[in-house]
Amino acid sequence: MSEQTRYDKVVDLALRRGLFYPSSELHGAIAGFYDYGSVGSRIKNNWENCWRGFFLRRLGEPFVEIQPAEVAPEKVFEASGHLTQFVDPITECGKCGAVERADHLLESHLKEGFEGLSAKGLGALIKKHKVKCHKCGGDLKEVSVLNMMLSTRIGTGKLSKPAYMRPETTQGVVVNFKREYLINRERLPLGIAVIGRAFRNEIAPRQTLFRMREFTQAEIQVFCDPSELAKHARFSEVATSKIPVVLAKERKKGIQMVSAKALAKEYGEVYAYYMARISEFYASPGLRVRFFEKNEEERAFYNKYQFDIEYEFEDGGWREIAGFHYRTDHDLAGHARVSGQDLSVNRNGKRVIPHIVELSFGVDRNLLALLDAGYREEKKKDEMRVWLSLPPAVAPFTAGVYPLVNKDRLPEKTEEVLQLLRNAGLDVFLDDGGSIGRRYARADEIGVPFGITIDYDTFKDDSVTVRERDSTKQERVKIKVLAEHLKNKLNK
Ligand code: ATP
Ligand code: GLY
Repeated sequence: MSEQTRYDKVVDLALRRGLFYPSSELHGAIAGFYDYGSVGSRIKNNWENCWRGFFLRRLGEPFVEIQPAEVAPEKVFEASGHLTQFVDPITECGKCGAVERADHLLESHLKEGFEGLSAKGLGALIKKHKVKCHKCGGDLKEVSVLNMMLSTRIGTGKLSKPAYMRPETTQGVVVNFKREYLINRERLPLGIAVIGRAFRNEIAPRQTLFRMREFTQAEIQVFCDPSELAKHARFSEVATSKIPVVLAKERKKGIQMVSAKALAKEYGEVYAYYMARISEFYASPGLRVRFFEKNEEERAFYNKYQFDIEYEFEDGGWREIAGFHYRTDHDLAGHARVSGQDLSVNRNGKRVIPHIVELSFGVDRNLLALLDAGYREEKKKDEMRVWLSLPPAVAPFTAGVYPLVNKDRLPEKTEEVLQLLRNAGLDVFLDDGGSIGRRYARADEIGVPFGITIDYDTFKDDSVTVRERDSTKQERVKIKVLAEHLKNKLNK
């Protein structure tokens, strides 16, 4: 049997321990849809709260959060350009009917990227290199394009209207910009954040959370006065930060550590400022990322600058988990045109259409990156110890609490300790089944940083045993300082 890759092991673990699993599996799952289980939901919620904590609170930026609807009428996507331009090039096998993304097919054959090449160009290359169907070796039909939005209809009968599941959270923000601008004292910059679902009819959903048809984005559109993009009031705080970038014009040089100050010369201080802040966000859980700049052919249709933020998966190379974009006035201008409404704002007596700088994170891909980075295994005698070294802030619980046995007043003492920790705001759970070793192992697999055991000595010394997940080191800690002790360790 072939060796399991790290990714396979993470997926096995996810299924075994309720992190995530295929959606509607009971009735035959559809590719590209996953449900988060009881443990995965906690990790996902924690990630989203860390993201909110960092970008919406700690940074002290003028950012607000809204929750727009997921379905929107056709006009919204006519205005944004998605109706005509949010397309993927596809090719169908004349023999077995399998449909593949033409650029991905070529990429796997020729081992180079073809993103952004026209359908005509891709078709010509397929012919030139005699690329055949991956599945059956049959001849491929002409390359055509397919819109990736999931469509629906609203209402019934003849009066029903076409609508789409949003392919990005952005448009819900853009259509509400004017209202939020007025509510938020007519100030620019104004950042409007959304954490919510996006839907794409991906041709080849794959690698569980990596390419899904329904996924979660955490985005902020920062609306700016275009004449103020060169300066950011707090730029001096980040000017010397070094950011790992692969620049489009210097791709051959690979990753270069470039200061925010140097990047600001090319892209303006506002853009460079947020690059530095995104770098900080990833530095805190220790996730190594790079900013990979896309060139003109590769960029999304709405972007003037685009950096994909990539994480290097253990088995799969560098892959995009977030994006950082400069969308100019593309969106507001499009919505103004289609709605016939004035979406400009008054800036010192002049009418200005704000420009959007966009921070776009794929929550599911970020979780997959954390699972990939945190997966550990160690062979001890005949047994394999497996654990997830998750940052405590995203771990599903802070600690498991374990009575050594279920008798002799140990359950009551355990309940006391649980209550004490809960009152201190810690997320703890009780596990009183099986050997202590098995209980530690179960908690390690879902990334719980601490295990707390209540034993007979607890009655004598008012202490418990605290075990750390990564080192497996154990120490005795007095119950009265236990909550403080755990909090101190979490903040280290
Ligand atoms: P890719 O090139 O991999 O298809 P993309 O460039 O289309 O991705 P964006 O449109 O920039 O992705 O979307 C912003 C973010 O949303 C991405 O960085 C990613 O984290 C997430 N994302 C996009 N598509 C998917 C998907 N099908 N499944 C899971 N996450 C996704
Ligand atoms: N909103 C940007 C994106 O989905 O790529």
